[in-house]
Amino acid sequence: MTDGDAFTAEIFDFTTLTRLEAVAMLADLRAQIARHNRLYYDEDQPEISDEDYDALMRRLRDLEQAWPDLLDAGSPSQIVGGTVRPVLGAVAHRVPMLSLQDVFNQDDVRDFVQRVGATFEETTVFVVEPKIDGLSVALRYENGLFTLGLTRGDGVHTGEDVTMNLRMIKNLPLTLPEPVADLEVRGEVYLPFEAFERVNARQEAIGGKLFANPRNCAAGTLRQLDPNVVRERGLALFIFNLQLCRGKTFQTHSQSLAWLAEQGFPVIPDYTLCQTADEVLQAVARIGEQRFRLPYGIDGAVIKLDDLSRREQMGATSKMPRWAVAYKYPPEKKETRLLDIVVQVGRTGRLTPMAILKPVQLAGTTVSRATLHNQDYIDALDIRIGDLVQVQKAGDIIPAVLGVNLPKRPPDARKFKLPTTCPVCGAPTEREQDSADVRCTGSDCPAQLARHIIYFASKNAMNIDGLGPATVEALLQGGYVESLADLFSLNQHRDRLIESGIIGKEKSVDNLLSGIDAARQNPLDRLLTGLGIRNIGRQAARVLAGNYPDMDSLMAADEEQLLALPDFGQVSARAVVSFFRQEQTKILIDRLKRAGVRMTGESQIAGRRPLDGLTFVLTGTLPGLSRSQAGELIEKAGGKVSGAVSAKTSYVVAGEAAGSKLDKANQLAVPVIDEAELLRLLEEEE
Ligand code: IVH
Repeated sequence: MTDGDAFTAEIFDFTTLTRLEAVAMLADLRAQIARHNRLYYDEDQPEISDEDYDALMRRLRDLEQAWPDLLDAGSPSQIVGGTVRPVLGAVAHRVPMLSLQDVFNQDDVRDFVQRVGATFEETTVFVVEPKIDGLSVALRYENGLFTLGLTRGDGVHTGEDVTMNLRMIKNLPLTLPEPVADLEVRGEVYLPFEAFERVNARQEAIGGKLFANPRNCAAGTLRQLDPNVVRERGLALFIFNLQLCRGKTFQTHSQSLAWLAEQGFPVIPDYTLCQTADEVLQAVARIGEQRFRLPYGIDGAVIKLDDLSRREQMGATSKMPRWAVAYKYPPEKKETRLLDIVVQVGRTGRLTPMAILKPVQLAGTTVSRATLHNQDYIDALDIRIGDLVQVQKAGDIIPAVLGVNLPKRPPDARKFKLPTTCPVCGAPTEREQDSADVRCTGSDCPAQLARHIIYFASKNAMNIDGLGPATVEALLQGGYVESLADLFSLNQHRDRLIESGIIGKEKSVDNLLSGIDAARQNPLDRLLTGLGIRNIGRQAARVLAGNYPDMDSLMAADEEQLLALPDFGQVSARAVVSFFRQEQTKILIDRLKRAGVRMTGESQIAGRRPLDGLTFVLTGTLPGLSRSQAGELIEKAGGKVSGAVSAKTSYVVAGEAAGSKLDKANQLAVPVIDEAELLRLLEEEE
């Protein structure tokens, strides 16, 4: 493409491009813009008008919007008049990011107000603010442009550079109307409840780790490396302190907040000016009453001296200012009747006992269900159906049953035990080793279908492009898929899928369908990985596929035969046998066969392969290959990969930070080679 093409202000639907075309176009646009940036900023010799530059940028943004997963932090669209900064580099704080002294009762608040008041002769003014439950950030603006954002880090010396991620927060102003030379503000990044629930629902769908509360989620999100995740998850910001401002002075904190609001900052809402301890306590109580009605979490109220020069006079210890304290509200608890216990099957197959409660108002919401965690928890607290129980919102988020009012236990209270079969699909349940978790072992359990499909389609398994969480969710909701096997008849619904638009336009639908079609030819080890048999990951699936020519012979194998396989212990062998013994599995495999999914391994390559008969153990990080790539190369060349070093190991392939396996190899005098030698071995013996 020439520069000229890019300037035409046509309205173009970028979603109709193929991925490859989009990648090429993005690279081209980014290079053009980077060149014009250089000409403009560094060489002072712009070649194009501002309008043309804006048109290029607009085109880039539109393209990135159409292909959000191709957006990266280094794109010129993500940089405002500055350079790209690495996420999470350490940067020195100019103003320490202090924390606050916590107080837990009214007397401590009165003491604080009295202590501060006694320091000065004239009346003292305090500001009472909600204490937002998120994570602290410092934001730097130079000449009105947002240039740097740091987390607390160690609070005093350095913070982590999260500038690129902060840029993705919608209510963070990137430019200010009154561009003072140097400005630093401090605020709290938080995740609204609604967004938090969305994130966890999605995590659950993909079988990912659930975040315990919005604060953890906000912190994890801001500190991860892909700025797009920040945008998707919907982090937000409140500013609560002016840290530094060159070119402008303020007498009070409240004046500085008012000015910051004029500059477009989302200033901490609902701050109150008070003079006496009673007024302060009233303001604290008022925030306390409101806290359960807010769409975001607060974990206290902050009481601060308003006058800035007086703050200076009082100073700070090495950790906290002497002019402010944080009042922490106690979590709300209530007693109510446990009406029943039901069992939920999560998307990971975990069975969770849930308390059905007589509805009770708690921490701002009506609570009628609470988690009972697991069987051990129920047994330890001797919780029975019909009991009066105390309920609390732990961290004001997840309702939990804390205990039982034993003296009031009704005579007909009933004990509870988790079922031995899944309430959704009827497959046997199984308690995990060394854990209190009980899971459904069903191979095609509807409760776990979304996670199963995502895993089935993942890179290591059937490697089907375009079957990510959002698409899978849409297919399930649209009723297109009720079993893994239904994926292979999706092509019958092509027209309806295109019409409904749930997974994009014609091109996206066709890409997905052809990806699924191609996956039919995957060798057995990929299919076995994708089936998600407990304890059987890619490596074990390769061993199975390497030792059984097809699915039928594997399905006929007994535990003893499987135990003879390299790296197969009782747990894995048993998991395989019980998986294939299930009626659900037999039906699923049968349907997959009928859909034309291949049930055999890689065809044997004629003649000897270079690594035939050799067993390798991989340890540490190899410079050029991932573990699974190295494993694949070895197995393609006839070698076996094992997880443990023994006298039978032919070679240990060691990379950086190799651990105990290397020691073991040395003990047993097993030859140790590096990646380069492995590659040579692969070539030499061919
Ligand atoms: S003032 C020098 N005000 O609470 C300023 N902090 O426990 C000291 N926080 O790390 C903090 N809302 O991240 C202040 N309205 C508010 C706040 C607030 C939340 C956080 C802040 C700090 C932590 C201290």
